[in-house]
Amino acid sequence: MNRVAVELGARSYEVRIGEGLIARAGAEVAPLLRRRQVAVVTDETVAGAHLPTLMAALEAEGIAASALALPAGEATKGWAELARCTEWLLEQKVERRDVVIALGGGVIGDLVGFAAAILRRGVRFVQLPTTLLAQVDSSVGGKTGINTAQGKNLVGAFHQPSLVLADIGVLDTLPERDFLSGYGEVVKYGLLGDAAFFDWLEINGPALKAGDRVARLRAVTRSVEMKAGIVARDETEEGERALLNLGHTFCHALEKATGYSDRLLHGEGVAIGCALAFELSSRLGLCSQEDPSRVRAHLAAMGMKVDLAQIPGDLPGTEALIALMGQDKKVVDGRLRFVLARGIGEAFVAEDVPGEAVRAVLDEALARR
Ligand SMILES: NC(=O)c1ccc[n+]([C@@H]2O[C@H](COP(=O)([O-])OP(=O)(O)OC[C@H]3O[C@@H](n4cnc5c(N)ncnc54)[C@H](O)[C@@H]3O)[C@@H](O)[C@H]2O)c1
Repeated sequence: MNRVAVELGARSYEVRIGEGLIARAGAEVAPLLRRRQVAVVTDETVAGAHLPTLMAALEAEGIAASALALPAGEATKGWAELARCTEWLLEQKVERRDVVIALGGGVIGDLVGFAAAILRRGVRFVQLPTTLLAQVDSSVGGKTGINTAQGKNLVGAFHQPSLVLADIGVLDTLPERDFLSGYGEVVKYGLLGDAAFFDWLEINGPALKAGDRVARLRAVTRSVEMKAGIVARDETEEGERALLNLGHTFCHALEKATGYSDRLLHGEGVAIGCALAFELSSRLGLCSQEDPSRVRAHLAAMGMKVDLAQIPGDLPGTEALIALMGQDKKVVDGRLRFVLARGIGEAFVAEDVPGEAVRAVLDEALARR
């Protein structure tokens, strides 16, 4: 088992990464408990595959547990299920000093984390992330929240977990498309700040995809180390944490254009967005022309979407996509902010990106459709 510390003073916590952690969750969680009782929230798909293991692990340590399984899918991350989840936790008599467990992907982690943040003005929670995306990204860093009719993640809170247990064995049951979507975020870490990690992914990505345990442990651990370091230096995104949004300005426009449907999963949008961000960087003379080609070649070799042409159905034109970027909550004072790169592993935040260059990149990308 690997351990990565997220250093946030009194709110510091550990991310433990390894195989079989859910089967050992009772022993891992027990030291946090003031009384031997927890409430578990999961989704129906994850419940079918992994809840019995967790419940047995808790029982083995004499920890009483009740569980709620919400419907799987992004639609669960909204007001209705937040109300249902919060009221259920109150019915379970979760008290101020108790611990809530979130077992699932980013949807469950974000929703349950937010419910924990507002329940009795804040109770502790433990993340048991079960998707690659949740293990390398959403379970670490304390961003919690829900979507509303106005957009994604617009209501939420910073609420750090007390512990994260990333059981790499549970990724065996994850559909390949979801695995590759999470891989989009893994690649992002290499691209934004660790060229040697990107080199390693180019060589080991296929083994990782095929289920190699050593590669999986290394990829999740390195990703978590990078996220933990950035979060520790900039918890509330005043500066460096914005680098984690590499590829996300393009991604959010594409997600809005495809209605947050399964036409495009979040990590797929991130991967395409990273490729476009490197094309934009190259067009602006910031990085070499080889860099975007290398990014695209690796994503393609992994069997991932690289191009707008691979998104099924119609997409709006360049101006409409730029307008969708403009609604992004990360826009500062109406200017388009992008995370760009001076090379692989060298991302930075660019404040005033010329509109013509963005238009040209999107025109070219749409012309390839
Ligand atoms: N808080 C953050 O910092 C942060 C960062 C990135 C993304 N997010 C959020 O994360 C969400 C996406 O997360 P996600 O991709 O994990 O989606 P998800 O939680 O919807 O999981 C994807 C699908 O996989 C299923 N699943 C989960 N684990 C499984 C397993 N082990 N075996 C089989 N099936 C399994 C789920 O039931 C679901 O159908 C989005 O809402 C996004 O906004 C948050």
